[in-house]
Amino acid sequence: MSSEVVALPELLAPVRAGLIAMREILSAELSDQGPVGERVAHISRFRGKELRAALVLLAGQAVDNRDPELPQVAAVLELIHLATLVHDDVLDGADLRRNLPSVHVAWDEQTAILLGDMLYSRAFHLSTRLRSILAASLLSLAAQRICAGEMEQAALRYRFDLDQDTYESIAAAKTAELYAAACELGARYKGEPGAWSDKEERKALELKAFGRELGLAFQIMDDVLDVIGKEVEVGKRVGNDVEDGKVTLPILWTYQNSSETVQARIRLAYQDPSVTDRLQALREACDLEAGLAFARRRAQELLHSALGRLEAIPPSAAREALQRIAEYVLYRKK
Ligand code: IPE
Ligand code: IPE
Ligand code: MG
Ligand code: MG
Repeated sequence: MSSEVVALPELLAPVRAGLIAMREILSAELSDQGPVGERVAHISRFRGKELRAALVLLAGQAVDNRDPELPQVAAVLELIHLATLVHDDVLDGADLRRNLPSVHVAWDEQTAILLGDMLYSRAFHLSTRLRSILAASLLSLAAQRICAGEMEQAALRYRFDLDQDTYESIAAAKTAELYAAACELGARYKGEPGAWSDKEERKALELKAFGRELGLAFQIMDDVLDVIGKEVEVGKRVGNDVEDGKVTLPILWTYQNSSETVQARIRLAYQDPSVTDRLQALREACDLEAGLAFARRRAQELLHSALGRLEAIPPSAAREALQRIAEYVLYRKK
């Protein structure tokens, strides 16, 4: 993998027009009047990275799927993603999102729950205006998996005996499924009825697998950023996973490769009621470097496999952008 650092908007240049169209659809969906309008305006004030939308468009372009509804499919994905973020911040007690106060902080938990529900409903309503039900079908499944992943994660807070497979299956459910669906939809979404050839089906399956591995690596690196990121860059509170009892891969590895004395200190950093800054306490309790390096290596391994999937796709600017996104996931700072 090359180490050249390229800004995300530059990487997404091949689908710039599609992203602009996606944003227009999204803005129209997020332009309520009245009291709800103010709450919706709050969450639409700052754009996210739009990676999932970009993956729909890039996967589509990479297999020459010219369906004109792809920007709308991409907007449905971003709306679902937004709904998960509003709910996730309530679950995680996270007070900052995209450099703004989270909805449950700016208003209250009731508002966040209902606004999240509203965004989900809006996403599925938008999907009913598409000519094919494929997006509704794949995304309703992905949304259910996200909820299952979030529930399992909540049930396993403070569990230092978690194994890596369970950690990864949670990360896959809450994050990678949506990435996989984005890539699959880009490749397979077709408004007009009609079959894909076996060759096209194979490309769609490879892109779906690419999305899944990319998404898993993305979540692992998100967990790394929760330890080493800078708040102004990530736009969310660093150390929130530790505050909230989540034993993420870098910490899991550190714990499981530490002496009993250090393990006891790590548990205190997570749970001692007198601790005010848990990430700082964790840093003082142990050396996290090897655990962080392990998590990065695992992300790298997944991305290497993901890049291999793209060999089934003919070379193009879109394929190159997908390759570079895989590299970006490793060096991203936000
Ligand atoms: C945040 O996703 C949630 C995770 C899966 C870690 P992003 O980092 O893609 O969020 P935005 O959309 O860019 O804000
Ligand atoms: C992603 O996990 C959760 C979602 C599926 C929304 P995180 O809880 O790590 O995401 P951030 O760090 O809050 O963005
Ligand atoms: Mg969270
Ligand atoms: Mg996180």
